[in-house]
Amino acid sequence: MKDTYNTSSPLVILAVESSCDETSAAISKNGRVLSNIVATQAVHENYGGVVPELASRAHQQNIVPVVHQALREANITKTMLNAVAYTQGPGLLGALLVGSSFVKSLSWGLNIPLISVNHMQAHILAHFIDEPRPKFPFLCLTVSGGHTQLVVVHDYLDMEIIGETLDDAVGEAFDKIAKLLGLPYPGGPYLDKLASQGNPSRFPFPISSMPAMDFSFSGVKTAVLYFLRDQLKQHESFIEENLADLCASVQATLISMLLEKLEIAAHQIGVREIAIAGGVSANSGLRSQLEKLAQTNQWNVYIPKIEYCTDNAAMIAIAAHYQYLAGQTDTLTASPNPRMKFGRK
Ligand code: KG4
Ligand code: ZN
Repeated sequence: MKDTYNTSSPLVILAVESSCDETSAAISKNGRVLSNIVATQAVHENYGGVVPELASRAHQQNIVPVVHQALREANITKTMLNAVAYTQGPGLLGALLVGSSFVKSLSWGLNIPLISVNHMQAHILAHFIDEPRPKFPFLCLTVSGGHTQLVVVHDYLDMEIIGETLDDAVGEAFDKIAKLLGLPYPGGPYLDKLASQGNPSRFPFPISSMPAMDFSFSGVKTAVLYFLRDQLKQHESFIEENLADLCASVQATLISMLLEKLEIAAHQIGVREIAIAGGVSANSGLRSQLEKLAQTNQWNVYIPKIEYCTDNAAMIAIAAHYQYLAGQTDTLTASPNPRMKFGRK
C-alpha cells in the first residue's frame, strides 16, 4: 500500500477517540499528525474505576472544545477536511456513541467520507505516527486496559492475532492489584512509579502458564489477594511498610509473563521486528526489560512515545489515513460496536 498521499490536494482527516475515559481529537495531513488533544476524565478517580454513564456525559461536555482545539492547533478549518474518522469499537457503548454521532453529523454536514476505526488496530498503527517505523511483517504485543494480544502485522490493515488473554487484560491486572494495595485509579501508572523504588524479587508470586501464545492474569490477581489477606492478619500495616517492594514484585511478575510469550512467539514466527502498543506499553519496567531482551535476541524494538501509548486520537487519524487510501470508507448507517474485533478470520 502507498505510504503517503501524493495527489495535488492534501488529505486532511479529523479523528475522534471516545471509547473509554479520554476524549481526544486529532488532525492528520497526508499521514502526518498536526495536532492531538486529549481531555482525561478525572471524575472516575472517586469511584475506583470507569463509570460508563459518567464517561458518556464527560465526553459530551468535552467533545466540542477538544475538536475546536485540535483544529486550531493544526491551523485547519472545517472546510479544509477531506474525511472524518471515529473509534467504532471496542469500548463502552455510551462513550462510543458520543464520538460516532458527532463525527457522523460532521460527515453529513460537510459532505465528506466517514471512516470507522478499530481502537486496537489503531493502537498498533500508532507506530506509524513517527519515525522509526517497524518493517512488515512485525510482531506486536498489544497491552491495554481491555486487551492483551500478540499480533502479527503483515501490512497496515492486514493483522493476525496469534495469542490473547483468556481472562483479564494485563492493564486490568495492574489496576485491580493496585486497588488491593490502596492506590488510586487507574493504578497502573502509580504502581509503576512505586515499583522503581522497590525490590522486584522480594515477593515471588506464582506465574500461571497458559498453552501456546495465550495469557492468563486472573491467577496472579487472586494470588496477591490471598497473600495480602494472610499477611494483614499478622501485621496490619504490612502494605504500607512494604508498598514499594510489593509494587516491584507484582510488576516484575506481570512483565515476565508478557515477555515470556513474546519471546516464544518471535522465535516461532521467525521475526526480529518487535513492537509494543497500548496503555501498558507506557510501563517503565516493561520498556526497559524489552530493550534488554532485544539485545539478547538481536531484535529491532519499537516502543511508542508515552503520549501515543495511552488512548489518543492521533492513532485513530493514522489508522483512518491508511483506511482511506485502501478505500475503506463507511456510510452514515455505521454504528458503534462495543465488542468490535479485528484481524484475519
Ligand atoms: O490503552 P489504554 O489507555 O486504554 C484502553 O484501551 O484500555 O490503557 C489503559 C491501561 C490501564 O489499565 C492503565 O492502568 C494502564 O493502561 N497503564 C499502565 C501505565 N500507564 C497506563 N500500566 C502500567 N504502567 C503504566 N505506566
Ligand atoms: Zn486503548
